[in-house]
Amino acid sequence: MSRIVYVNGEYLPEGEAKVSVFDRGFLFADGVYEVTSVLDGRLIDFEGHARRLERSLSELDMAAPVTMDELLEIHRELLRRNELVEGMVYLQVTRGAAADRDFAFPDPEAVPSSLVLFSQAKSLVANPAAKAGIKVISIDDQRWTRRDIKTVQLLYPSLGKMMAKAAGADDAWMVEDGQVTEGTSNNAYIVKDGRIITRQLGHEILHGITRAAVLRFAREAQMQVEERAFTIDEAQSADEAFITSASTFVLPVVNIDGVALGGGRPGRVATRLREIYIDESRKAAI
Ligand code: PDD
Repeated sequence: MSRIVYVNGEYLPEGEAKVSVFDRGFLFADGVYEVTSVLDGRLIDFEGHARRLERSLSELDMAAPVTMDELLEIHRELLRRNELVEGMVYLQVTRGAAADRDFAFPDPEAVPSSLVLFSQAKSLVANPAAKAGIKVISIDDQRWTRRDIKTVQLLYPSLGKMMAKAAGADDAWMVEDGQVTEGTSNNAYIVKDGRIITRQLGHEILHGITRAAVLRFAREAQMQVEERAFTIDEAQSADEAFITSASTFVLPVVNIDGVALGGGRPGRVATRLREIYIDESRKAAI
């Protein structure tokens, strides 16, 4: 079955879906995106992703192409047409295609923003990395300084993943002014003496939707949470570490720059939080 994707009002087989070569997403990375996970054919935390999308759009003065209710309907129709049970929906809004390449924004009345969505089937719960844990390396954070806006400028995160791969690791944690910001496509955490430590919100990191849910569940389970920055040295002497994102949920980190944590096995806190997150997300999925 050919995948059906959504492009500006139409549901089309992926081979027939087209965007203009003048699209500003293509020419200027002038676009924002969201990734929403799907379990049992239902969307996890749709409202959180829709709210963050609205914020990304407003920070960049970009018009929303449809209402958030319409967006939910498009997500659901895409799931139906692709019979997706488990995986993700990727959504991208760009500032549309102007007549010529021009750095200045086009008039939004004349050039509507463009909307693309597609689904990806993926086994999220039965991820082998949840049992084995992942290895990370540290790299310099060379991204722009508004990482709270979820833009499609993902070249540096891609380079980071490649650096990790070349070093025999699974991912990279980025470091700025001596402190960890986040993973290339996830938020970063350490656990010390039962306390969960993760960087505070600000322009330096993406405000993860999974992060918000996991911290809420942790507090509800009476776990101590500290929102502050930490160094790689502190992380290497932590009891455990983990990452969160829509596509990985909670994944244990068992090695940082070659130093094994918790004997190289996933920690108790990360494992418990993953279970809680999956259970609660399934219950609340729409
Ligand atoms: N990445 N930090 C960065 C830099 C990210 O790219 C992501 C998400 C996160 C976690 O956010 P959330 O919990 O809302 O998924 C943190 C998505 C999954 C991606 O680019 O595929």
